[in-house]
Amino acid sequence: MCGIVGYIGTQQAAPLLLEGLTRLEHRGYDSAGVAVVGGSGVRVAKQAGRVRDLSEGLPKRFGGKIGIGHTRWATHGPANDVNAHPHSDEAGRVAVVHNGIIDNASALRAELADAGVTLSSDTDTEVLAHLVARSDADTLEKRVAEALGRIEGTYGVAVVHADFPDRIVVARNGSPLIVGVGAQEMYVASDLAAVIRYTTTVAHLDDGEMATVTAGGFTTYRLGASGLAATDRRAKEVDVDPESYDAGDHESFMHKELMEQPARAEAVLRGRLDERFGTGHLGGLNLDARELRAIRRVKILGCGSAYYVGQMGASLIEELARIPADAEAASEFRYRNPIIEPDTLYVAVSQSGETIDTLLAVQEVHRKGGRVIGLVNVVGSAIAREVDGGIYLHAGPEVAVASTKALTNMYLAFAMLAVQLGRVRDLSIADGKRLIEGLTAIPGQIGEVLATEDALAEIAHELAAAESLFFVGRVRGFPVAREGAQKFKEISYRHAEAYQTSELKHGPLALISTEVPTVAVVPDDELVERNVAALHEIAARGGPLTVVTHASVDLGDLQGAVRRIDVPKSERELDPILLTIPLQVLSYHAALSLGHDIDKPRNLAKSVTVE
Ligand code: F6R
Repeated sequence: MCGIVGYIGTQQAAPLLLEGLTRLEHRGYDSAGVAVVGGSGVRVAKQAGRVRDLSEGLPKRFGGKIGIGHTRWATHGPANDVNAHPHSDEAGRVAVVHNGIIDNASALRAELADAGVTLSSDTDTEVLAHLVARSDADTLEKRVAEALGRIEGTYGVAVVHADFPDRIVVARNGSPLIVGVGAQEMYVASDLAAVIRYTTTVAHLDDGEMATVTAGGFTTYRLGASGLAATDRRAKEVDVDPESYDAGDHESFMHKELMEQPARAEAVLRGRLDERFGTGHLGGLNLDARELRAIRRVKILGCGSAYYVGQMGASLIEELARIPADAEAASEFRYRNPIIEPDTLYVAVSQSGETIDTLLAVQEVHRKGGRVIGLVNVVGSAIAREVDGGIYLHAGPEVAVASTKALTNMYLAFAMLAVQLGRVRDLSIADGKRLIEGLTAIPGQIGEVLATEDALAEIAHELAAAESLFFVGRVRGFPVAREGAQKFKEISYRHAEAYQTSELKHGPLALISTEVPTVAVVPDDELVERNVAALHEIAARGGPLTVVTHASVDLGDLQGAVRRIDVPKSERELDPILLTIPLQVLSYHAALSLGHDIDKPRNLAKSVTVE
């Protein structure tokens, strides 16, 4: 949430900062700003709105070869010009950009006000600018360390100061920060996306670490009560294709990410399927067969869509390994003083690897001595570094706020984990092989669903006309419905409610009418007759129906009255992922037909790094 970029070198900073901010905009997009250090000191330009608005309004002469920039997702105070970052002291000699939350901001604001400081914004970040400005330590590093020593909370922070015009000082505690190395120029950023066009040599700061960045290089320190102790952090080459951060010929990142799914699904499965023994081959778990057998319970922790995929994963693990498994919203977990059992395997699921609620849940498990593995997409992210082992998702960079390809790969990772857990127990080799064959076919089958995009777009246009919709499913189909509703509401802004099909008649059926369509998930499995009976109950009340199903399902006399979406059949345990794909495409086209900004839905941001 929120994006930070910085540049120091031989070129004019402002254009590079704006370009970096554009690439970070998915992390927060309600306001943006830049500060440059030039001959006349520190100059700041910031305003509510998108980076392009900032760019258009930027004075022609905004010169300086050192600068920092920020794109914001508001936490303290509304999205307006004043609350936009960078924040400065009264004399305008310091500029600060900050991601994270300062928990004791109110107390610090009061203290500063008592000392005669006039605060100009409603933000927590502004206190940092004043604290740095009021320090009289002899180096900028010490001034920043002193200021950070006063705050409680999380930060990724970058600071420039007119009195130290040859450096940017950055620090990290709970919010990512990287330093990128160029030739006589250096970059700082909260995300690789901001700098990947310029350098692939980067250093990831650790929590509690600070760096001085000059045009010629960087040095790092550990922030501690007794001052700054040098650390030996080196920059490393990252193995990524800069093109993967571009939308290419697609009209949006979400469209690109939807269409990439067959290739990315192949990537997560590659080298991890053992056809001979009908099992998964997940070396990164750091658990041998004996340890896998000792697991008595699995608890999956994730937020939003990752939580819903966690529910799909729990059902796979129960079915295939017969281990009790459930998923819980990571945001709630640590607040109920959870009981951590030694023979429970905890699984943290996160695309970004930065979601603070999930990270804190992992830390809660660790604090109580539990073992956690991660299903994470971003290599080297906070959650990836915190867990005891795991499965990287290999989905490639995901830029659209609405997650698609990463979720698909989370599902496939769960399927491999469930097969591996099953095969050290009672899942037969024949069943193992059946599932491995099923998994091998999934990337191609996802491609088959995506090839029906035009037909799905037509259905989506009709659904988009409704103010309110139900998404329903049972057992394996229910998390599919939850994820379908989540995606739909997130980008179309329609009210989409997920319900168990079996529960409709216990209340929500009262809402069914000709105005309220239902999207029903009806796989060809042991519940198909019960599901079809429920469709009759909806149709009898005039509710328009879209049924996501398999060609083998006979809808009887409902056939002519419903919109039907057939997906390829997989092994019954693996059906959920193929049933999910058309729901993603429906959401995308519903939002498109409503004219929404698909990649940056209102009020949201990618990577939720605040509680
Ligand atoms: C929905 C969506 C969010 C995320 C959630 C967790 O499309 O993107 O619900 O799934 O914020 O994010 P990660 O997976 O980064 O932990």
